[in-house]
Amino acid sequence: MFMPVLVYSENEAVINNSKKIAQRGHNALIVTGRSSASRNGSLNDVVHALEKERISYSVYNKIEENPTVQNVMEAVGFGQEKNSDFVIGIGGGSALDAAKAVSFMLAHPGEKEDLLYTHCDDSALPLVLIPTTCGTGSEVTGVSVLTVSQLHTKKSISHKIFADLALIDGKYLKDIPIHILRNTALDALTHLTESYINSNTDVFSRMFADAGLDLWRKNMDCLVTGKPDDVQMSEMMNASALGGMAIAQNGTGIPHGLSYSLTYKLNIPHGKAVGYFTAGYLSEASEKDRNHILEKLGFDGVGEFSDWYKELYGITEVEDSILEQAVDELWKNQPKVKTAPFEVSYDKLMKIAFYNKNN
Ligand SMILES: [Fe+2]
Repeated sequence: MFMPVLVYSENEAVINNSKKIAQRGHNALIVTGRSSASRNGSLNDVVHALEKERISYSVYNKIEENPTVQNVMEAVGFGQEKNSDFVIGIGGGSALDAAKAVSFMLAHPGEKEDLLYTHCDDSALPLVLIPTTCGTGSEVTGVSVLTVSQLHTKKSISHKIFADLALIDGKYLKDIPIHILRNTALDALTHLTESYINSNTDVFSRMFADAGLDLWRKNMDCLVTGKPDDVQMSEMMNASALGGMAIAQNGTGIPHGLSYSLTYKLNIPHGKAVGYFTAGYLSEASEKDRNHILEKLGFDGVGEFSDWYKELYGITEVEDSILEQAVDELWKNQPKVKTAPFEVSYDKLMKIAFYNKNN
């Protein structure tokens, strides 16, 4: 079991832990997206905490959705100019993943972007991560996924970069748009299920997954209204972090592997795209694993789960050819296929991919 991040999850986590932030360095580079961190108050809290501790800082607020390597390198150039000695990432998965890559590149001055995808040491500047969505769990995983424009796809960098400090506060979800709440929360759910139903699962990853599933079920009603209360906000954030801790042990599985084509070709948000394949994956899992997940979530069978997904997320028309391509691409990635704790043939993968269409 490996979970090297110091985590504080509480009301006013940023202000309460300003001294812990200040221990990371003298000159912070804040890495975030264009507007959400200003809107939800997280940027303001970080600035307040840094000023309280007399730590200087610069703000790079141009991280895009699905950030490219070029976008990351621009932030690196900015951080070098400002002599930043630690990094604070604020936002959803895009900003947090970018902050990891930035902290890695800033620890390797003079190197080019190729280093992101070259195996070498994983050293990085001290890193603080503050999530403002409840999905990726990126604040507690070592994974950083960037868009590699030349390859027309997203790809994890070759380095495991964990934050030194994660500060989790549910209040940043207060005005989150309902579609982002739904899509990110579904991403968290898929992390929990894919870590649980996984050939590399163990007692520790299952401990995280079970705790996260319990919290997720307790609070899932807020996805219908889109208006989580204070408890729901903080518990959904914790469910997401537990999903991150679970996949930090054994990674994601087949639904994630199938989802990338849907996101890249049809622009379907990550959580919704992964969730499209969850019912199919559950239907092929062992009865014991399937029943465990469904009972935890309060669904009476895979069909009921599938209906819930279609009703809440809308029925997505996906052409057969795109599903076939998703299967072909995943089939070439046998290590990912083998994350399933059951025998997976090409035909079985097709059944998983087409489950929502055929049921
Ligand atoms: Fe995910």
